[in-house]
Order: sequence, then C-alpha cells, then structure tokens
Amino acid sequence: MSGDRLSLAIGAGDLPAEGRILVLGPPGQADLSALPAGRITVEQTFRPDHDAWARRGLEVTARAEGPFAAAIVFAQRSRDASRAAVARAASLVATGGAIWVDGAKTDGIDSLLKDLRWRVGLSAPLAKAHGKIARFANEGDQVFADWAARDLTPAPGFKTLPGVFSAEAVDRGSLCLAAALPADLKGKVADLGAGWGWLSAQILARPGVSLLHLVEADRVALDCARLNVTDTRARFHWEDATTFTPGDRLDWVVMNPPFHVSRAADPGLGIAFIRAAAAMLAPHGRLLMVANRHLPYEKTLAAAFRHVEEVSMGDGFKVLKASAPVRSRP
Ligand SMILES: C[S@@+](CC[C@H](N)C(=O)[O-])C[C@H]1O[C@@H](n2cnc3c(N)ncnc32)[C@H](O)[C@@H]1O
Repeated sequence: MSGDRLSLAIGAGDLPAEGRILVLGPPGQADLSALPAGRITVEQTFRPDHDAWARRGLEVTARAEGPFAAAIVFAQRSRDASRAAVARAASLVATGGAIWVDGAKTDGIDSLLKDLRWRVGLSAPLAKAHGKIARFANEGDQVFADWAARDLTPAPGFKTLPGVFSAEAVDRGSLCLAAALPADLKGKVADLGAGWGWLSAQILARPGVSLLHLVEADRVALDCARLNVTDTRARFHWEDATTFTPGDRLDWVVMNPPFHVSRAADPGLGIAFIRAAAAMLAPHGRLLMVANRHLPYEKTLAAAFRHVEEVSMGDGFKVLKASAPVRSRP
C-alpha cells in the first residue's frame, strides 16, 4: 500500500508547516491519511477516481493550478506519463518545495527514481509494500523540460499524449471493429470508451449518423479526441460509461471496452459496459463491440439482448453484434 510508504516518508519530516500540497494522480482508493486533508489538492484525470476523491471530501480537480508548497507524485503505468507527471509537479511547486515520487515496482518506480537521481538531489528511497518513495527539493521545471508531455501522432491527423490508451498507434481491436462497421450505421450513436477518437472518426464517416456521443473517463484522452474529431455531430462527455445516460435512447452503441483494471485483465468492466449499453439503446437499437477472443462476454450479452451474433473473428479479436435489448433500466 502506498499509504504505508507515505506515512513512513512524511513521518521522516520535510512536509512544509503550511501551504497547499498537490497530490498528482493517486488512484481513488489510495491512502492519503498521512497528509493534512485540509491542505491537499488532488489532481486526477480519470473520472471514476476523480469522483471517488470528491466523495471522500477532498479538493479534487482535473487540472490543478499552482503554486503549491509541496507535491506527491504517484507513478503511472506508462514511463512517459510518469515523467510528465514529475515535470508537471516541478512546474507547480515553489522552488525549494519538496516533491515526493511514489510508486509500485510494477509501475517502474525503480527506473523512474534511477533517472531522477541523474537530475536532482534525491533522498535515499524508502522501500515498503512492493514499492518505493523518495523526495527531492524542486529546482524548477527547466530541469525536466524534456520530460514534459509531448504530442504523439498515432495516425495521420490525430494527436495523443503519453499515458492515454494506445497512444502510439491505432489499437488492433479498434481496427477490427472499424472493418466491421455496417455501411448503413445511422441515427444516434455512442462510442463508449472513445479514447482519443480514432474509432469515433470512423463512425462519423457514415453519413447516416446524426449524432455521436464520445464517452470517455480519461480526461487527457478525451481532450485529444476534442482536437482530433471536429465534426459538429460529435458530443464529448468526460464520464464513466457505466453510469452515462444519453438524453435520448440510442440507435447504436459501438465500443471497444476496456479489458483491464490496473494490470489485471478484468472482464467485469466490459460486462458493466455491455449492461450500460443495453440500457442506453432504443428497443430497435443495436450494439457492435470488439473484444479479445478469450474474454467471456457472450453470457452477459445473451442476458441483456434477445439476439447476439458473432460478426467476425481474426487477429485475436472477435466482433459481436447484439440487438433487441432487454430493458434493464426504466
Ligand atoms: C480499449 S480502449 C478503446 C479506446 C478507443 N475506442 C480506441 O479505439 O482507441 C478503452 C477506453 O475506455 C476508457 N475507459 C476505461 N474505463 C472507463 C469508464 N469507466 N468509462 C469510460 N471510459 C473508460 C479507457 O480510458 C480507454 O480509452
């Protein structure tokens, strides 16, 4: 648990006696009890985690504004996203303010701390609970100028930033799904887990589509989608797709749902996406989705829809179509 490491590190001193403390990217269930709650601002761009912090009564925002007296940076799964988070903390914390960098071994904390040691005077790392935490005094963001988040170009005309899903290339599952989009796709549509918008752009290439809801929990990905998809039929929602409700019932839901929570494959999230899709659709509505071949979604589809068929299979993926949703919400 990062909470144990944090208590150990904060207990070792150096937390300024006053001033705001920035906590960058903590998962919604992280333990921040070692910090004075009234001085914390959490920056969290993943909507379910963001909302979890709001429910816990902490000040939380998708984009914090400095200056801060100190910061705690939670390492991210992507190396470049972790580096960008450190660079961001350095741009928001006052010169000389303490910045702690915390992370699990599985999130690459060892190499992040090793890289940091070349640039700043890093304290000896404290190791606990399969992770490490270390601190440095901020010397300004110029030290990390080359770590700041930089645009990537995963496909011509599309930009992304480090850390978003499939930031460097179009996802193979989305390619399979795009190849299976029917020519007569039309009406009001939602793309659940729309990421940076490539699949949405393929949906909008169908002239019969009158409206497309892009629903995405990752604010950074959604902000990229806003730049990538400029079609006036697009509506952008920074929301948890499993609780999203469109104004009107939909004709189609098209989706490449997430298949893992943290590092572990978890079909539970895809199952929640399927149930949410069924609840969003009109009685004649249809769902088209792609999934890794081994993920067991058929039972859930059969419970939520009257008709289910496999449209295509290949490259380790299957595309499934379901129609006639069984009403699960009024
Ligand atoms: C497999 S990716 C597909 C992304 C995009 N459609 C594409 O083709 O590149 C799944 C997406 O779902 C998003 N996601 C994860 N959990 C979510 C949730 N609860 N609500 C909405 N989006 C979520 C992820 O951030 C990710 O962008």
